[in-house]
Amino acid sequence: MTFEKSILCIGAGYVGGPTMAMIAFKCPQYKVTVVDINPDRIAQWNSDDLPIYEPGLDEIVKARRGVNLFFSTDVEKGIQECEIIFVSVNTPTKNFGAGAGMAADLQYWDKTARQIRECARSDKIIVEKSTLPVKTAQAMKRILTCEDNGVRFDVLSNPEFLAEGTAIRDLEDPDRVLIGSTQTPNGIRARDTLVEIYANWVPRDRIITSNIWSSELSKLVANAFLAQRISSINSISALCEKADADIQEVAHAVGTDSRVGNRFLNASIGFGGSCFKKDILNLVYLCRYYDLKEVADYWEGVIRINDYQKERFILKMLDALFNTLADKKICLFGFAFKADTGDTRESPAIFVANRLLEERARVVITDPKALENAMMDMEGVPGDISYEEDPYAACDGCSAIAVMTEWRVFAALDYERIYRSMAKPAFVFDGRNILDHQRLFEMGFNVFPIGKPGLTHF
Ligand code: NAD
Ligand code: UGA
Repeated sequence: MTFEKSILCIGAGYVGGPTMAMIAFKCPQYKVTVVDINPDRIAQWNSDDLPIYEPGLDEIVKARRGVNLFFSTDVEKGIQECEIIFVSVNTPTKNFGAGAGMAADLQYWDKTARQIRECARSDKIIVEKSTLPVKTAQAMKRILTCEDNGVRFDVLSNPEFLAEGTAIRDLEDPDRVLIGSTQTPNGIRARDTLVEIYANWVPRDRIITSNIWSSELSKLVANAFLAQRISSINSISALCEKADADIQEVAHAVGTDSRVGNRFLNASIGFGGSCFKKDILNLVYLCRYYDLKEVADYWEGVIRINDYQKERFILKMLDALFNTLADKKICLFGFAFKADTGDTRESPAIFVANRLLEERARVVITDPKALENAMMDMEGVPGDISYEEDPYAACDGCSAIAVMTEWRVFAALDYERIYRSMAKPAFVFDGRNILDHQRLFEMGFNVFPIGKPGLTHF
């Protein structure tokens, strides 16, 4: 079969896999290949057990795999055969050298650029899909064009805005697609090629084009704004607990102002995930690099409040459980950083589990999708820690339950049964405000929500 276009994606992760599956699903006229240096990951993409859990993903992968969607480890062949290359490799926070703990680690990105230059035999459009510091496209262009091998490279920025757990919905019906390009005739031509791909299913008025630096920066800023809303509401949750106000009522009252909007105002144990913290740190680092101290400090505050919120949660547990957690069994409901994903990267549950173990508590973790990742995250951490698929078994003999992830299944459990099996007095710390606190209190639990006064029997 001949295809109209051949598209390659380098990096078969949480972004590369679902994004390319969606392009293949919506555009049967294109051949889409996803490559990765990790052979295990590629083997999983080619199996019945995909490497990531995402509602709706299985269906679209199974519909297109082997037809116009291919997963492979042959990066070189992939580069040679395609016209468009999406680069979706990981860009974690650097943990060594200058900028350690702040700047983005661009080594995977840099290696990819060099490999593209070495393998390419025909002109390519290179699309930055990874989240990158502003001005990375310039560095990429320099790496790609430092040797004249007769090949032309046009670099575009096309950041991804999908959220895990809703990736397929977000890809199918995005609020917007952002494409940044240079304003040269070649840049505009490359941009229009990418616009045409998305226009197969995204309405034109939702495809935004901009200059390339605005596009790179908008991705960092979008994540910073989202995280800022969570830190804002979480900071007020601390005040509500002191002032006998209810954070959900406050969020509702504030969010019904259409200028503010009601989304992303759920007070919680704190935000997790692989990107919010890393992207804000990256933004802060850039501001410091450009000597914008006040701007850097402002955004750093978003992370400080997030850390404060997690620590506050632990101190509340310690205080409520009579200032000692030693030898008490504590069950964590959820380990994923949010519901509907098995991803545990930067999950607040990692922090909570570690702190509980430091207090010598016995920790039991239950999660419908993230137990395997939880075991990897906690590997080698000293202390009494166990994993249990069945939430009822997990609670048996526990002094407290701490809700870490807003999985719907946790709200639907039989809490009378759970209460009977727990050590007394029994506590619930609802880090997501998903349970019926009044009902639990009436059953006998001592209940500590986020941003509302505790309900205790003492
Ligand atoms: P990931 O770690 O899940 O996947 C990255 C993949 O790239 C890995 O499988 C890795 O093996 C592969 N890789 C690294 N170097 C390679 C190379 N030289 N050649 C081939 N493969 C290589 O990461 P992710 O979560 O998919 O994130 C990718 C980028 O997208 C990051 O910049 C992230 O900030 C951004 N992003 C992520 C999300 C999300 O929800 N996870 C959403 C929007 C944007
Ligand atoms: C986030 C953004 O929402 C995406 O637009 C972006 O593409 C992505 O980061 C990225 O760049 O990686 P994601 O981290 O997958 O997506 O999930 P979110 O739904 O944003 O949740 C992030 C964290 O905030 C979770 O821990 C979640 O539980 C928490 N959260 C979210 C709250 O505590 N309260 C809220 O009201 C919303």
